[in-house]
Amino acid sequence: MLDFKDHVVLVTGAGAGIGFGIARAFHEAGARVALGDLREVAVARAATKLGDSGRVYARAVDVRDARATAEFLDGAERTLGPVTVAVANAGIYPNTPVLDMTTEEWDRVMETNVRGVFLTCQAAARSMVARGTQGKIITLSSGAAFSGRQGASHYCASKAGVVMFTKVLALELAGHHINVNSIAPGLIEVEGEVSPLTREYVETLTRSIPWGRIGSPEDIAKAALFLASPLAEFITGEVLAVNGGSSAGRAFLPLSTPPSP
Ligand SMILES: NC(=O)c1ccc[n+]([C@@H]2O[C@H](COP(=O)([O-])OP(=O)(O)OC[C@H]3O[C@@H](n4cnc5c(N)ncnc54)[C@H](O)[C@@H]3O)[C@@H](O)[C@H]2O)c1
Repeated sequence: MLDFKDHVVLVTGAGAGIGFGIARAFHEAGARVALGDLREVAVARAATKLGDSGRVYARAVDVRDARATAEFLDGAERTLGPVTVAVANAGIYPNTPVLDMTTEEWDRVMETNVRGVFLTCQAAARSMVARGTQGKIITLSSGAAFSGRQGASHYCASKAGVVMFTKVLALELAGHHINVNSIAPGLIEVEGEVSPLTREYVETLTRSIPWGRIGSPEDIAKAALFLASPLAEFITGEVLAVNGGSSAGRAFLPLSTPPSP
C-alpha cells in the first residue's frame, strides 16, 4: 500500500528540509516527483541528490504567484503525467515581535504560507477534478496553529489559516473523492538556510518533547506516505500532529506531589 510507482507527486518547497524529505520518500517508493522551490539552486541540488532516474521534474517556482504555480503544475504534468498527490509544503517562519514587525514581513508570511497553499492546492485540485483523479492533497500546517509562541504572530495566524483552509477544501472535494489533510509537525531538524532558529530556542523546545528527541524530515515524510496511501482512504479534513507527543500535554513539568517515602 506504500508503493507509489503509479503516482506523480508534486511537492512545493522541495529544495530543502521537510519538502525535500517528503519528495525523497515518495521517490524511493517508486513515484515520479515534481520538485518546486523559490530557490533555483536549491531545487536543482535536490533533484541531483535524487539521481538521474528519469522520474524527477524540478523547477523554480514562487508559490505566491498564481501564474507561476499553475505553470509549475502544467510543466510537471507534461513531463511526468497527471498529478495524483500534491503536497503544499513551502513555508517560512521568521521571528519578530508584533511591536517591531513591518507590514512587509507580515505580508510575506501570509502570502507564502496561506496564499501559497491556496494556489498550490487550487492548481492541483483543478487538474484532479478535470481528469476525474481521486487524488490526495496534503498541506503542511504546524503545532503553531494551536499553540502560540512569541515572535510568531504572523506564522501562528498563517498556520491556523492553513488548518481551516484544509478542512473547507476537504468538504468541497469530498464529492470527488479527493482526500485533503494537513500534517502539523512539531520541531523538525532542517538546515535552516531560509528560516534559521537560535540554538537556545531549539534546545529549550527539544527538552519539552516527550519522546525525547527532535523530529526529522523522515518522520514527516512517513506521515505523508500514509496520508497519500489507500490506508487513509476514509480520512479527510484531518490534521495529523507529528511531534513526539508535544501536543499531548506539558511533559516538562515535575510531579505535583512529593513521592511517598
Ligand atoms: N522545521 C520545523 O520545525 C517545522 C515545524 C512545523 C511546521 N513546519 C512547516 O513545514 C514546512 C517546511 O518547513 P522547513 O522547516 O522544511 O523549512 P525550510 O526553510 O527548510 O524549507 C522550506 C523551503 O521552502 C522554500 N520556499 C520559501 N518560500 C517559497 C515560495 N514563495 N515559493 C516556493 N518555495 C518557497 C524555501 O526556499 C525552502 O527551500 C513549512 O510550511 C513550515 O512552516 C516546519
